[in-house]
Amino acid sequence: MSQPIDLALRTRAARVIPGGMYGHQAVGGLPEGYPQFFTRAEGPWLWDTDGNLLLDLMCAYGPQLFGYANHDIDRAYAEQMVIGDAMTGPSPLIVDLAEAMVAMVGHAEWAIFCKNGSDATTMALMVARSHTGRNAIVRAAGAYHGSSPWSNPRPRGIAPSDQAGQHICTYNDVASLEAAVKAAGRDLAAIFASPYRHDVFIDQASPSADYARRARELADETGALLIVDDVRAGFRIARDCSWSLLGVEPDLSCWGKAIANGHPISALLGSEKARGAAEKIYTTGSYWFAAAAMAASLATLKLIRESDYLERITALGESFRSGLDARANAHGFTLRQTGPAQMPLILFDKDPDMRLGYAWSASMVRNGVYMHPWHNMFISAAMTDANIAFALDAADQSFAELAKTAPTLGPNTRYPGPRRA
Ligand SMILES: Cc1ncc(COP(=O)(O)O)c(C=O)c1O
Repeated sequence: MSQPIDLALRTRAARVIPGGMYGHQAVGGLPEGYPQFFTRAEGPWLWDTDGNLLLDLMCAYGPQLFGYANHDIDRAYAEQMVIGDAMTGPSPLIVDLAEAMVAMVGHAEWAIFCKNGSDATTMALMVARSHTGRNAIVRAAGAYHGSSPWSNPRPRGIAPSDQAGQHICTYNDVASLEAAVKAAGRDLAAIFASPYRHDVFIDQASPSADYARRARELADETGALLIVDDVRAGFRIARDCSWSLLGVEPDLSCWGKAIANGHPISALLGSEKARGAAEKIYTTGSYWFAAAAMAASLATLKLIRESDYLERITALGESFRSGLDARANAHGFTLRQTGPAQMPLILFDKDPDMRLGYAWSASMVRNGVYMHPWHNMFISAAMTDANIAFALDAADQSFAELAKTAPTLGPNTRYPGPRRA
């Protein structure tokens, strides 16, 4: 796989962009050979700057639910762009969109729109503090809630006071949840919950019904608000808030990524109980009212309501998962495939520094499939059985290559290792 243009861009980027690229879109923590830059995307496909074509299992880290350049969604965006986008005030579409979200999400009675998932989770924190007049939160170790100072997973640039009053529990461990709530005491404003454990580097886990129900009870007992952060999983496992599958309704839920299929918009949804608190906080952003992303979101929500996308991505994910297992086993490897099949995380068993996972993922990229060695991936509704067959053929070839090279692989120096809490 030739990448002269990508490499030249990286050299230029290193001069004018800190680290050459920042955040999780930087490929420094990925195996060698991953392209950093892309020029084009359509349906399930990505083109890198050197013209290599890749079947994309990352879906832009989640937003691409219906694939890139979806005709209905992008037409709605483009048409609204011509009519009016970022104006002196919102267009009527903000009311249409709030009504649509409230109609689809069981616990929601109101919506505030913003741009990124981090805006929505930070606003959730503010609403909970506004509601309770308290400050502390409980959240699970390793759970990602965005890059704001209060939620940032890395210590550099963060003051200890930015993350003061955070009580950490273990996901799905009821006793540790109770202990964290107790430690927060009378200052508890919110319990944050990921819809399922989708932490990087480790096996994913479904939420236990006991854990989710206890989180609801503890919030009610203490007067704190229960917040489900559905930024990553929203509308990928349910057409409602993800915890609706467990019969647990939060007070607030955070949305982003898939709600406009890649167009910039996110949302905080809330129940009646939290409305007064939401009315009292000051929150805004120059682009939060832009109408084109709202038009795109309305078109996306229509597809979510009216198509069988969820059943299709689940079935595609399941066939990918079982096909991968068969091929891995045939070549003498055992995979740990966890998470919902449509949001798969694929790790190799007995691979502590991920050298097998890195070598296999790099080989998948060379064979035309963009995978991630330690972050959950996403199946999009633009994918077909033929795409899954293509990915499985690539996997077969990559397992065969790995079977030859595995004994000679040295320590994996690019593996960044699990995050701190
Ligand atoms: C669960 C979760 N919450 C919040 C965020 C932050 O979203 P954004 O990157 O749009 O700010 C993410 C992003 O990956 C996420 O996965």
